[in-house]
Amino acid sequence: MTTTSQVLDDLTASLTLEEKVALLTGRDFWNTVPIERIGLRNLLMSDGPSGVRGERWDEREPSLNLPSSTALASTWSRSVATRYGEALASEARRKGVDVVLGPTINLHRSPFGGRHFECMSEDPLLSGELAVGYIRGLQGGGVACCAKHYVANDFETDRFTVDVVVDDRTLHELYLKPFELAVREADAWSVMSSYNSINGDTATENDLLNDPLRTEWAFTGAVISDWTAVRSLRSAAKEQDVVMPGPVRTWGDALVAAVRSGEIDEATIDRKVHRILLLAARAGASRIDSEDAPELRTAPTVDGPALAREIAASGMVLVRNEAALPLDRGVSSVALIGNNARVARTQGGGSATVFPEHVISPLDGLVEALGADRVRFAMGAVVQVGIEELALGAMTNPVTGEPGHRATFIAADGTVLFEEDRRSTALVYFGGDAPVRQSAKVVFHTKYRCDADATLNLGFAGINRAAISVDGRVILDEQLVPVGADLGAAFLSPPAASAPVEVHAGQVLDVQVTVSLHAAGPLAGALAFNFGLEAPTTDPDELIREAVEAAAASDVAIVVVGTNSKVESEGWDRSSLALPGRQDDLVAAVVAANPNTIVVVNSGSPVVMPWRDDVAAVLLAWFPGQEFGHALTDVLFGDAEPGGRLPTTWPVSEADLPVSDVTPVEGRVVYTEGIHIGYRAWLKSGGQFAYPFGFGLGYTTWSIDDLTGPSSIAPDDDATVEVTVTNTGARRGRHVVQVYAERPTSSIDRPIRWLVGFADVTVEAGATAAVPVTVRATELAHWDGGWKVEPGEFTLVATSDAMAGGPRHRLTIT
Ligand code: BGC
Repeated sequence: MTTTSQVLDDLTASLTLEEKVALLTGRDFWNTVPIERIGLRNLLMSDGPSGVRGERWDEREPSLNLPSSTALASTWSRSVATRYGEALASEARRKGVDVVLGPTINLHRSPFGGRHFECMSEDPLLSGELAVGYIRGLQGGGVACCAKHYVANDFETDRFTVDVVVDDRTLHELYLKPFELAVREADAWSVMSSYNSINGDTATENDLLNDPLRTEWAFTGAVISDWTAVRSLRSAAKEQDVVMPGPVRTWGDALVAAVRSGEIDEATIDRKVHRILLLAARAGASRIDSEDAPELRTAPTVDGPALAREIAASGMVLVRNEAALPLDRGVSSVALIGNNARVARTQGGGSATVFPEHVISPLDGLVEALGADRVRFAMGAVVQVGIEELALGAMTNPVTGEPGHRATFIAADGTVLFEEDRRSTALVYFGGDAPVRQSAKVVFHTKYRCDADATLNLGFAGINRAAISVDGRVILDEQLVPVGADLGAAFLSPPAASAPVEVHAGQVLDVQVTVSLHAAGPLAGALAFNFGLEAPTTDPDELIREAVEAAAASDVAIVVVGTNSKVESEGWDRSSLALPGRQDDLVAAVVAANPNTIVVVNSGSPVVMPWRDDVAAVLLAWFPGQEFGHALTDVLFGDAEPGGRLPTTWPVSEADLPVSDVTPVEGRVVYTEGIHIGYRAWLKSGGQFAYPFGFGLGYTTWSIDDLTGPSSIAPDDDATVEVTVTNTGARRGRHVVQVYAERPTSSIDRPIRWLVGFADVTVEAGATAAVPVTVRATELAHWDGGWKVEPGEFTLVATSDAMAGGPRHRLTIT
């Protein structure tokens, strides 16, 4: 029988050099180049990692918006991660996507990192194990993953140019580890090389693409560059396989010439082509069958919203509960307070963004659960900034009479080139049918019905010149200028402007927004633009007063605090861990008015909570995806347990953080803390944290009673230990049993303790379970130019979080 590899070699040999090189750069923003004569179609790639956006950013092609990675990681569940991956496979199949750009498995080195919400954990084993589950689910459905960003891409500032200086041991034990598991355990079909440099060489030219990726880990997949990360021909001589996006910038003809002149070996090109052909075979994009592609290329059937709801609830982490939760469904009145209760953050910003078909906000969820007459809503503080979309129900398309607006693309000579009817006023054009590149301007036109006498702040956000006219009168005409040099970031989170318009209830405004398009430059052919309403400026004290009144008049107050689109996003790092706006004052005032105050935190990463010991309960909800409001009410009323355990330590204050500065100095960020990040660093310093790694209360209580296992193993043996755990509370619950290793007498610098295994278990009230936990030999190894296992005794500890005590077991490596 001919193996796939031989077939691919033969196929590669049948291509001309020009054809081979053409395959190595994308055809366009999201697709690779097809070669029909060999039965190879284009491969379509799409972000990722918490939904599959598809080729277009378009509300008419919505996507399932799953909880973000920190929420997924809080489940500590491999099987949940697999189901998450299956849901992505099903979405990808529905949208014709072959490669999902996820999971994101960089580490939480510091919560100041802007994409912290998109990564899993501060611990490499937890990140890697969940990535394995995710990838198995996704690839099991015949869709390729693209594990990203390889490597040490743990913050955003100067991400294209920064050089991360990190020692070899730290690199292997921490930052490479999740990728190692993704490749070795889950057989990842592709990996994305990052923007940054690592120890002097940019990722797309770095020898790390060969060693350990190809050598030690035997990676057979393709290395796809992060978008625009390939900036040289030199990268073609390295193990960088695919340049995205296309069309050709750096490789193309220059690469053909380099091969012809002997500067780059053709065998190097052949290796890359082979890998792309294999990726296509695996993802079903070619006539060639792959031995390791799933036999059935049908996507699993997944009830997406139900899964999003379940995972959001199981990822919520209850960190404080003074008998306040769960709530009685018979509660007579609830004050629901917070900007995020109405305008929920279900996902973080940047390329991870998808367009959900609907979003259930906490307000929607609570009203659905209790009825509007038992819920008093107050905004409390302004959190969301920028332009809020015009509500679909208030817009009428002047041409069709349907809800929405008409977009008209017009050439420089006034010719109408293209028209379409849209339902959203948050618009992103990247490729697709609209002739953005050929047009000089686009006009969005709608009839907007006002529901009250008010001053509306009509405005837009973008980095183009734009004007708004109302009933033929121009109210705003402005060129907005992006902040910072990261054009991608400015594109996805642009600056905003607005102008006031006095309106009365029932008035219908004729609104026309005219946007000039970029004729040249890197953003020619693309457009990201929102128009709508900017929040009115209200006296902040008045907002707090209203919230206090609502709280005082209700049985219970639920305050949903959180971050906004300017805080947690790709493209920049955070400048503070404080909640934006007056939210801390708001919580303090509300709890003073009603001690029965429950705070729900809607952020993708840690925030500082000065009031955390004063309120009745604190529930960390993360960015919980489109079913936020449903999952939240499930948890609040006890239909579901808040099953999450922290994948990252939460600090008391910024000053206590082991790593808070992620700003490059002279172009470099040095990982001076080495192997001591996250809980390892807190253990070393003895500093005060708010909630430790691994911690979470749930709705029952636990005791970890015993830890047994082999007393000795050979250096390359895995050990299976058994943890005895009892549900000491009054209701069925799920617990995450964690096993850490300690080696106080080590001859090398070690963390005081580090995670070596974990398992989740569901136990009835009062019952005891014996939970097997596998500790892989590699988890006890350290890197010293290669993996080494120190002979002698390790102590294993079974606990409920990184800082807690628990039964111990001595394990000797013989
Ligand atoms: C991000 C990647 C993403 C890519 C494509 C880049 O800016 O870093 O994570 O997959 O864009 O959108």
